[in-house]
Parts: sequence; structure tokens; C-alpha cells
Amino acid sequence: MIKKGIILAGGLGSRMSPLTKAVNKQLLPLFDKPLIFYPLSILMLAGIKNILIIVNKGQLNQFRKILPEKNNLGIRIEYKEQSKPTGLPEAFTIGEKFIGKDSVSLILGDNFFYGQSLTKILKKNISFKKGAKIFLHPVKNPNNYGVAHLNNKNKVVSLVEKPKKTKSNLAVTGLYFFDNKVVEFSKRLKPSKRGELEIIDLLNIYRKRNILSADLIGRGGAWLDTGNVKDYYNASNFISAIENRQGLKIACLEEISYKNNWINKQDIKKSILFYGNCDYSKYLKSLIN
Ligand code: TTP
Repeated sequence: MIKKGIILAGGLGSRMSPLTKAVNKQLLPLFDKPLIFYPLSILMLAGIKNILIIVNKGQLNQFRKILPEKNNLGIRIEYKEQSKPTGLPEAFTIGEKFIGKDSVSLILGDNFFYGQSLTKILKKNISFKKGAKIFLHPVKNPNNYGVAHLNNKNKVVSLVEKPKKTKSNLAVTGLYFFDNKVVEFSKRLKPSKRGELEIIDLLNIYRKRNILSADLIGRGGAWLDTGNVKDYYNASNFISAIENRQGLKIACLEEISYKNNWINKQDIKKSILFYGNCDYSKYLKSLIN
């Protein structure tokens, strides 16, 4: 059973400069909330209450303002700093103490997931014990992503980072489940040609041992890019369209906690005071009235 989750929320955000010169990408607005609310909501939907957020050195206080350790969300938040963005697997060496003897989920701070099939997939996989699990999503331009080839038994037979040519359109999304071996395996990795520790290399260690499995987020789910300004605004529009149509919010953290029975009406009232007079607070009021 996975009870711990890491959000990797550092990075340079160089593709979104100048927006990201003073403010970290994960704190920028994705429609009506900071981007980091969305990956955090995914961990919470999976039932994970114990969360480590890894941020760039020097940016911790900005994150604390919106997601303080002492929060009204019924979850435990811890922070660690990464001195330089030298690769996703660093999450597991920076997070070694946090992980302890447990399994862990990793979600990238800039990944947006949505859809009915998603919660089902999360609940189905959360009881996972051994190995590693990746979540794949079909994309039109697989050469921009890590790509997985499956055989006819849905087993991962190869994993390649940004292949020039590929027959598979299944991209590896930024959500991963790992058993405790991940700490040891991450320490073995060597930097790639671009000077980073690569998540694909880490996953390939699991694959070669036959303990890597994959699940598909199919048409019933969305996985959107937020890496460049155009994609960022497309994702914002997507959220705006759905929220305006349904009158329901995507990634309202208090709503998820309340439904999980992690917080009560009193906690939601504290959050309303915290956010102040805004649409998000109005929505919170509607949940408890
Ligand atoms: P990337 O998309 O690789 O990088 P980035 O967000 O810094 O953007 P750019 O390529 O435009 O410079 O990172 C994916 C996510 O992981 C993003 O949320 C930042 C985070 N990240 C870290 O926190 N530490 C790291 O060492 C890396 C590589 C990424």
C-alpha cells in the first residue's frame, strides 16, 4: 500500500521564461489555482496524506505561503530543497529519510491529470507492493516524451527517452509508484549525456528485473502538458471550460480532504479565512452550507 508521495516542484522552467524568472512554475496560476494544487490533488485522490514537496533552493518560503506545513488540509506536508535541477531520480535520494522503509509515489509538480478513469486507476494500483508502476497516455507527438512499447500482454518491453522514430504513441506520464528499492537504485544511476540523472534509466533497472508494470490512462482521462506557455494556457482553458460548465472545481484540495473525511466543516472555515474573500472561498462555503 502506498502511503507516501513526493511532488517534485523545482526545475528551471526555462521554456516559460520570463514568467519563471522570479516565480517558480508550480506557483503560477493554472486557471484559478497555483499549478501545484493539481498534482497534490492527484496524490490526495489516491488517498496519500504524507507528502514531501521538493523545491529549488531559495524558493521554500514562497511555497510555504500557499501550502504551509501546518495546513487545514488534513495532510502532512514536509519540504526539502534541491540545490540544482539535476534530474528526477534525485527525488529519491533527497527524500531518502522521508521514504524510510516504505513504498512511494512520485508526481511531477507540473503534471495535470483529469478524468473519471483516473481515480479508478489510482485506487486500483495503490495497493501495489513490489516493483515499479508507470502510467501511460497516448499522445500525438511521442518523440517529445519517454515512450513505452508494450507487448500483447501489456508488458513493457522497451522504454526510450524522446525517440526520433517510434511505433508506440504511449508516453510515460509524470506519475510513478515505486517500492523501497528505488532509493538504492537511484544511488546507482550515472548522469546521462545531458548531465542529468534520468528517470528512464531508473525505470529500465526495474524493467530488466521484470518488475516494471504499466497501466493505461486511456481516452477517459486527460494528461496535459504545462511545460511551455502555449500548453499552459491550453490547460488553463480546459480547466476553465469544465469548471464553468459544471460549477464544480478541479483540484479543490479542501473538497477532496472533506470527502476523504480527513477534515471537518471547522477546518474548511479556517481555509476560507486563510484564502480571504475570493471565488475559491465562495466555493468552499458552498461545500459546507
Ligand atoms: P522539466 O520539464 O524537465 O523541466 P522544467 O520544468 O524545469 O522546465 P524547462 O524544461 O522549461 O526548463 O521538469 C519536469 C518537472 O520536474 C517540473 O515540474 C520541474 C521538476 N524538476 C525538479 O524539481 N527537479 C529536477 O531536477 C528536474 C529535472 C525537474
